[in-house]
Amino acid sequence: MSLTTEDEPPEVWVKVHRRKGRRCQKKPTLTVSVPSTLLPSPASLSLEQVKQDYDRIAGQWKSSSSFTQLQDLLSSYAASVNVNVATAICFGLGTFDPPDGAWEQKRKAHIQLAAFLSIVEHLQTQASHQIRCLFQEPILNSVDKVFIESLGHEVVESPAGFQLVDPKTLAFGVHLYRDIYSQVIATHIPAMFIGTSYGTWEDSHGPENLDWTRMKQLDQLCVKAKFPENQADTTFSSTTIHWRFRDES
Ligand SMILES: C[S@@+](CC[C@H](N)C(=O)[O-])C[C@H]1O[C@@H](n2cnc3c(N)ncnc32)[C@H](O)[C@@H]1O
Repeated sequence: MSLTTEDEPPEVWVKVHRRKGRRCQKKPTLTVSVPSTLLPSPASLSLEQVKQDYDRIAGQWKSSSSFTQLQDLLSSYAASVNVNVATAICFGLGTFDPPDGAWEQKRKAHIQLAAFLSIVEHLQTQASHQIRCLFQEPILNSVDKVFIESLGHEVVESPAGFQLVDPKTLAFGVHLYRDIYSQVIATHIPAMFIGTSYGTWEDSHGPENLDWTRMKQLDQLCVKAKFPENQADTTFSSTTIHWRFRDES
């Protein structure tokens, strides 16, 4: 995967004016800059259609070798690395209803959701408590959010998800911009991190050009395995599963 397009966030920005609370009409408005490409588009699919898409696409992926290998990987690493996950946060999933109907994008969002939830399900079998599941993705539309909530999970606005990452978090984010990963790992190295590895960034930039101490630190604290992929499918290209085997000093 070339990282050039995912290295930096988009450059076109619009001003969004938000009121600081509904009742303070006379107070000045808070101005937040949001890249225009990161605003949700109006929903074109119904909740029922999104559910049907998910059942079909997730079902196909669950009968693939990627799913089976993922289960085997999780079982084998669980035996050697004692991960303790209390919160699972999925960053940058994309939308289930892309404005131009982009099939590939929609398919990836459903498969990445299925993968994230199957990992949480696996971790849940080893946990003595309920794992809290959250999603942060600025382009989720109203139906996307209701769909995620209908599965029993929470949707948070950016940057709330970044602030919830702690040493007992599973942080999941496939093909994200460097800036987003930086915010994910800024305060704590999570128990598990699933995303683009330091090695992949290094291959792309050249070892001497990659100045990313925090991601290097994460790399050194983790054991890693390549996310199992299906042939000719880029849904999990350049994606690595990281298990933290020791705490930050
Ligand atoms: C390159 S896309 C990857 C989408 C998908 N995971 C994939 O593999 O195709 C990066 C995603 O990050 C999302 N994103 C941007 N800012 C974000 C933020 N602050 N928090 C979470 N996601 C964000 C974008 O909306 C976009 O969907």
